[in-house]
Amino acid sequence: MKAITVTPVTPRIGAEIGGVDLREKLAEETVERIREAWLDHQVIFFRDQDLTHQQHIAFASQFGELHVHPTVPHHPDHPEVIIIHADENSRQVAGDGWHSDVTFEENPPVGSVLRLTETPPDGGGATLFSSMYSAYEALSPAFQEFLDGRVALHQLGNLPGHRQDENPPSSQHPVILTHPETGRKGIFVNQGFTKRIEDLSRDESRTILQYLYRHIENPNFHVRFQWKKNSIAMWDNRCVQHLATWDYFPATRHGYRVTLKGATNN
Ligand code: SIN
Repeated sequence: MKAITVTPVTPRIGAEIGGVDLREKLAEETVERIREAWLDHQVIFFRDQDLTHQQHIAFASQFGELHVHPTVPHHPDHPEVIIIHADENSRQVAGDGWHSDVTFEENPPVGSVLRLTETPPDGGGATLFSSMYSAYEALSPAFQEFLDGRVALHQLGNLPGHRQDENPPSSQHPVILTHPETGRKGIFVNQGFTKRIEDLSRDESRTILQYLYRHIENPNFHVRFQWKKNSIAMWDNRCVQHLATWDYFPATRHGYRVTLKGATNN
């Protein structure tokens, strides 16, 4: 069996995986090695993977059960597949603000596997990933202590591409999440879905959340992934936030995302 390669993109976050063909059913050791790289590097990248929807679903399913998004339109034949698309007619794109996926659910997804099949001809359309471990570790011990043990309310808001509900789903999560598999701590509030930190006044909560949102934008915590046709990014939603850039209008960018169902965070 050929060993896969794992090449870090930055020392803090991101690694490119080589030597694997994701169209094939993978050996158990290969799945374990990919899982290990995913947990160590938080987001991993693959190139030149020309997958069908079934192969995309089969690859992701080796890492857990798949999630069906409650509010975003999905592929007509594959409810687990979300279509990511922008072109000259788009007024907005999914994911162009920092967020973790679906944190308004009680058990938010553990991760996502996104592949792009069409990229803008003149570049652009990169996705930025920010390490919530690095962001947490850069806070002062006194502020870490203040945040540890606090709880925040997350709620589905008025986001591009989401169906709007009269009673939007909501859920509470720790502000600082201890990753259930690595044991590392990371910031787990995001401007996409977090509404407030419980037990603080509205002003205190807003000020602290604004501070944390600005803090996670520090490029020292980031990796920027420049897509090519048939690239894949697989991120760990428990310790990574991401942002899809939209610097390529009116060009087309197209792809598909499947999402790994969550286990309990609380
Ligand atoms: C998303 O899953 O938020 C979309 C990411 C992207 O299009 O790069």
